[in-house]
Amino acid sequence: MKIITVGTGYVGLVHAAVCSEYGHEVHAYDIDREKIDAFSSGLSEPIEKFVNEPGLVNIIRETLGKSLHFSDDLEAIIEGTDAIFMCLPTPSNIDGSTNLTFYDAAAESIAEVLAKRKDKRRLVLVNKSTVPIGTARHLEGIMKSHGVENFGVASNPEFLAEGTAVADARRPDRVVVGCDCEEDFTILRRVYSQFVHHVRIKYIQTTPETAEAIKYVANTMLLTYISFWNGVGAKIGENMPNVNIDDLRLGVTSDDRISTWGSFVSNGAGGSCFGKDISSLIYQLRRVNVSTKMLEASFEVNEHQKVYLIDRAITEADFKFNNKTVAVLGLAFKKHTNDMRDASSIKVIESLLGKGVAAIHAYDPLANETAADVFDPSKNALFEKIKYFDSAKEAITGSQALFVSSDCEEFRGFSRTIEDTVSPPYLVMDGRRMIPDYNELVSKSFTYLAVGSMVMRPD
Ligand SMILES: NC(=O)c1ccc[n+]([C@@H]2O[C@H](COP(=O)([O-])OP(=O)(O)OC[C@H]3O[C@@H](n4cnc5c(N)ncnc54)[C@H](O)[C@@H]3O)[C@@H](O)[C@H]2O)c1
Repeated sequence: MKIITVGTGYVGLVHAAVCSEYGHEVHAYDIDREKIDAFSSGLSEPIEKFVNEPGLVNIIRETLGKSLHFSDDLEAIIEGTDAIFMCLPTPSNIDGSTNLTFYDAAAESIAEVLAKRKDKRRLVLVNKSTVPIGTARHLEGIMKSHGVENFGVASNPEFLAEGTAVADARRPDRVVVGCDCEEDFTILRRVYSQFVHHVRIKYIQTTPETAEAIKYVANTMLLTYISFWNGVGAKIGENMPNVNIDDLRLGVTSDDRISTWGSFVSNGAGGSCFGKDISSLIYQLRRVNVSTKMLEASFEVNEHQKVYLIDRAITEADFKFNNKTVAVLGLAFKKHTNDMRDASSIKVIESLLGKGVAAIHAYDPLANETAADVFDPSKNALFEKIKYFDSAKEAITGSQALFVSSDCEEFRGFSRTIEDTVSPPYLVMDGRRMIPDYNELVSKSFTYLAVGSMVMRPD
């Protein structure tokens, strides 16, 4: 099949790469020339600057110029295309609704090009972006208004998780395809022929609107589950003496009906999708007069969770942040990615700066550079106080407190590095419960404060 992916971000680039690996002729299109040049180079550094996913560079190197091509000229690649995958950003507006500006702009330019195509074979426009229920229909309207002929619209939401994007795209749990007619289902079954009769992958064919709804309900459910553990489990551990949150979690999740995933309490879930998707679903449901209390609670618990350890440090550990140097370890929203979108560290750092810290020593194995773009001093002079380091040890040197804000493996069992580098009085704030041997630290007069437990301080 000849496929075009529109947008070469996490979703578009990974989809293009994996489809090219399966032997389709793939053209990855983007308006960002810098990205097209970086991906066309086949070199790790420029590619990973934009999308850093394990295994991705290898696929690009193997298929580049054979089954995978990059372009910023849609007209030049359009003829003979079977499917166009829309992989565009769909961020939130301030009121929670979905901002379709990028999506609509891309749809308009595709429509203009399609209206002029010579080859009139059936073509499907497929939404991979997470878009409000009804957007496939909206896309159909844009195409029709330009006089595009012989096309169908489909919804095929993407479920990959950053950090494991390539593995997820190669072996998804399910492929959800929403189309209006058998002709379009057939085109997409050809695109996904390796998944259609797979023993473990569910291939689900439904209406475009149901497919759109599946994506929102799935992400909202995942965030609600995380918020349940943070809003209930963690709070029991923090407020009821002698409750061990790790044992609580194990005891509860030993029930096959209850997932282990999401039960690890934390300083909130970040990333480009959860917050915006739950906000969008709240907005969409309010418009049809459906109560959104439960979804609002999930969202609020998650936002509160990002910074409340800092408030607990003041009230429970009597820590004064004013003029202190605090190390923040783990800047990206999770391990194995350099994506800073909606990362908990952003709220953590802003809160610390608001409390008058003298300096922030920041470290992430992959995201120092993307973090520096987020904390651009030209946007906020306080960001001058942030310095970036090449290792956790260097970052904590000279600090009086540290905050672990992501689940990078290297922070696990990190107590020896802390003991060897800084001296008490010292406050360790553990937003991910990454330091299982915290007793060692406390026995050496460090104060340990983690999500899910009462503060532990030297006698
Ligand atoms: N990132 C994830 O983990 C993930 C997972 C599942 C679903 N999604 C959804 O997929 C969609 C894309 O997410 P992403 O993270 O890949 O976004 P992204 O911001 O990483 O990439 C979007 C790309 O679109 C390009 N673009 C913008 N306007 C364009 C235009 N007019 N024409 C062509 N290209 C254009 C941008 O240059 C960018 O490269 C979103 O709706 C998101 O919610 C994301």
